[in-house]
Amino acid sequence: MSTEGVAHGKVILFGEHAVVYGIPAIAVGIDRGARAKAVALESGPSTLRVADWNLCVREDDPETPLARAFGDLLRVTRDAGVAVSAVSVEAAADLPPGGGLGCSAALGVAVARALDPEAPAEVIAERAGAWEAVFHGNASGVDAAVASLGGCVLFERGAPVGSTITRIRAPGVVHLCIGNSGQASSTRSMVESVARLRERRPETTQKAFDAIHTLVKNARLAIEAADRRAVGQLLDLNQMLLSGLFVSTPDIEQMCSTARAAGALGAKLTGAGGGGCVVALVDHPEVGAKVLSAWKSDGFDGFLTSFGAPDLGRRTSTLMESAP
Ligand code: PMV
Repeated sequence: MSTEGVAHGKVILFGEHAVVYGIPAIAVGIDRGARAKAVALESGPSTLRVADWNLCVREDDPETPLARAFGDLLRVTRDAGVAVSAVSVEAAADLPPGGGLGCSAALGVAVARALDPEAPAEVIAERAGAWEAVFHGNASGVDAAVASLGGCVLFERGAPVGSTITRIRAPGVVHLCIGNSGQASSTRSMVESVARLRERRPETTQKAFDAIHTLVKNARLAIEAADRRAVGQLLDLNQMLLSGLFVSTPDIEQMCSTARAAGALGAKLTGAGGGGCVVALVDHPEVGAKVLSAWKSDGFDGFLTSFGAPDLGRRTSTLMESAP
């Protein structure tokens, strides 16, 4: 017998890093994501294979992070009373690892779902938190929540449990360009670098977090009011504040400028920074194609995605391949 699970990749529109310290963040699930298939075995130990990464691990192997994450996920699933015996799991993701699009959370959610396909999305997100903790240390949980729920959400970290997830209704389709700097980064080390900055300069860092908090509140209103221009300006402001936290890079700055020059309403890094991806807002897919082609000329790949729908909130996401 086999069971399957799927999960979304995600784009954080506003509030990364600050979300670790309890500031709300706005994130969107995208069509690219991860899938997993679990097949029952006669006897253990359970195994997980991620063919694209050339990795196959056993639940009882403490040596590799992937094996520990898999073991912890099995443990929390079994602790919840789910009868998971020995399984062989195959998982795959169509997201760049270390790219800020929530690749590890999507894999964790897909595996959690394959282990227990009937569990509600919120429960799956919580279980995937055990997986994320292995890779990211002090993870806020926003990646796992959006990987599991999809759509556009306002996420606020709970302390230590009980995060709040509120769906944001976006009237009309919102088009986003996602560009990959091609530089992988470690979420754990970027989160740690912000933690060190916060220790060294508590007041300046708190001021940046407070400013991010204000712009997240305004961004929610702007998304709900379909005020694209305001959303674009707020993306630019969030990028400035993230640069002030030293998580931007010259390539990210270049990609944001290129996107704006090609007609984007605003652009910023998405996720942990230090490399990874950039998100740019456009008011039409044709402008999106111009942004993708400008990035391509600079040597950066990208794709177009969207969220929101005319029927208020039921997200229909279209996805186009990179510009030629
Ligand atoms: O780079 P990603 O996709 O793992 O995003 C991390 C988002 C952070 O806010 C930097 C960390 C977190 O756990 O929320």
